[in-house]
Amino acid sequence: MKARRNESSKKPRCGGAVAAWLLVPLLVLVLLKTDCLLQVTPRLDCERVRQGQQLVDVAKLKDADPTPKTPDSATEAPRSHALSDEIAGHSIDAIKDLKHEKDSLAMKAAIDGSLRSSDVAAPRSKLSCNFSSKRMNTCAMEGDVRMHGKSGSFYVVAVSDDSYRPENGTVVIRPYPRKWEKWSMLTVREVTIHSGAAAAAPPRCTVRHDVPVVVFSTGAYSRNFFHSMTDIVIPLFNTAREYDGQVQLVATDYKHKWITQFRHILAALSVYPVIDFDADETVRCFPSARVGVEGHAELRIIPALSRKGYTMTDFRDFLRSAYSLKRAWTTPANRSSGQRPRLVMVLRRKSRSLTNEAEAIATATEVGFEVVAAGPEMVANMAEFAEVVSSCDVMVGVHGAGLTNMVFLPNNGTVMQIIPWGGLRWNCFTELGLPVPEMGIRYVEYEATAEETTLKDVYPRDHVVFTDPLAIHKKGFDPVYEIFLEGQNVTLDIDRFRGTMQQIYQSVTIA
Ligand SMILES: *[C@@H]1O[C@H](CO)[C@@H](O)[C@H](O)[C@H]1NC(C)=O
Ligand SMILES: *[C@@H]1O[C@H](CO)[C@@H](O)[C@H](O)[C@H]1NC(C)=O
Ligand SMILES: *[C@@H]1O[C@H](CO)[C@@H](O)[C@H](O)[C@H]1NC(C)=O
Ligand SMILES: *[C@@H]1O[C@H](CO)[C@@H](O)[C@H](O)[C@H]1NC(C)=O
Ligand SMILES: *[C@@H]1O[C@H](CO)[C@@H](O)[C@H](O)[C@H]1NC(C)=O
Repeated sequence: MKARRNESSKKPRCGGAVAAWLLVPLLVLVLLKTDCLLQVTPRLDCERVRQGQQLVDVAKLKDADPTPKTPDSATEAPRSHALSDEIAGHSIDAIKDLKHEKDSLAMKAAIDGSLRSSDVAAPRSKLSCNFSSKRMNTCAMEGDVRMHGKSGSFYVVAVSDDSYRPENGTVVIRPYPRKWEKWSMLTVREVTIHSGAAAAAPPRCTVRHDVPVVVFSTGAYSRNFFHSMTDIVIPLFNTAREYDGQVQLVATDYKHKWITQFRHILAALSVYPVIDFDADETVRCFPSARVGVEGHAELRIIPALSRKGYTMTDFRDFLRSAYSLKRAWTTPANRSSGQRPRLVMVLRRKSRSLTNEAEAIATATEVGFEVVAAGPEMVANMAEFAEVVSSCDVMVGVHGAGLTNMVFLPNNGTVMQIIPWGGLRWNCFTELGLPVPEMGIRYVEYEATAEETTLKDVYPRDHVVFTDPLAIHKKGFDPVYEIFLEGQNVTLDIDRFRGTMQQIYQSVTIA
């Protein structure tokens, strides 16, 4: 068992592979943007991405589309990027208490009913932006803030002198925290914030809200559960939780299916239904706004970077409350009185599946666990599966998005990640190992040996796939993806697996 390795073993073993690693779902994105996704990938809930057929389709689409979003177009720095360098470091610190101004604004509005372009009065609004993070750009506004979703615009009317002053009065933000991935960011809709002279003739308010607005995106990798948690849900928690439900959430790249899938979480963050930004023809006025959400790292919250000092414990408490999960802690099962700890086995189907799944389940059962076999069908129903996971003490599965459901395990639960063959440890650890202890969960790692992969049916044992898998990493992401991520299933060495299961069993039971 390679459980809980010390820090020194965590250092990168395969160079820059991690950035490329995270590009996995880009193939889907191309299709997503061209409305061909449904016919190509019926469901990806538990899968990262299917390749093969998709690659072919992408190629076809490229030919068909005169202005395709190709990796090349990503090298032309988008406007937002150019701006970001100039204004790096501007802080949201600058926002001071505008309660007084807000009160007089509200009074004025109550008399007037609606603000007209002409009634731009004394400076009363604030704009501040932080473009210094590697993951995201964010802007905060207060005062007279107007939103017109259809045109992708915000107006900060009559900004005060100590506000942030962007060149030409406009800032552009893509509200998705994967800023370093230029190509995927290009698929996220831009929000343009007009201030100063650029907001001199703002549109009239048609709807007034008396709560703040937070703008996020349900685009990019939202079909992948790991990315939904890492890039959308956790950042949204960081940004909107502080309002205790009294906040209007607005989504760019609005995906109805996503909104439905995550409805429990959204309802726990806001008492109002999410607004579809891109389709919204209304001019909405808010007392304050945050555009862009705050992500810190893969599946993690870094308290020092959180404005409110949130931790993953806070996030997991929040999830438990959103899904009404009662079990906050695991309690050791009493072996003498015949109690069996519950183990949920997250099962993949198309790749990185367990060829001897039935034997693995039987082995864990023999060892003493009550096993819940969770195929993609079960995992797809988020609320129901959250409850299943919450009722378990241990989660086991091969590396993949399905393991992200560990967020629903009770405190002191245990998760075991099975890492497929191919020098993948560092990548797998970064995504689904490193975040585990911060959740109050114990992490166990099981790295498949060369004997435990179906690659041995395809490649001779003296092939570089076995002799030097990291050499494949050096060739780039595509071969790693094709060979090691999509190209293998795992055949567990049942004796070895039993040994690991027994150790976990001992650690979650008492005599
Ligand atoms: C801006 O963001 C960076 C990176 O996330 C953070 O370290 C810094 O504290 C932020 N600045 C302010 C003033 O919040
Ligand atoms: C600002 O406006 C000037 C004149 O319209 C234009 O030449 C310049 O490119 C603009 N700069 C930005 C960053 O948009
Ligand atoms: C475990 O169960 C046995 C038999 O029912 C009982 O005697 C023992 O006290 C229990 N141990 C604990 C720690 O509850
Ligand atoms: C959680 O696990 C730790 C380490 O095994 C143990 O000391 C602690 O008592 C457990 N907490 C609860 C509430 O079971
Ligand atoms: C892995 O197993 C699935 C069935 O569970 C099969 O469809 C797929 O082709 C297998 N992949 C490889 C690379 O062996």
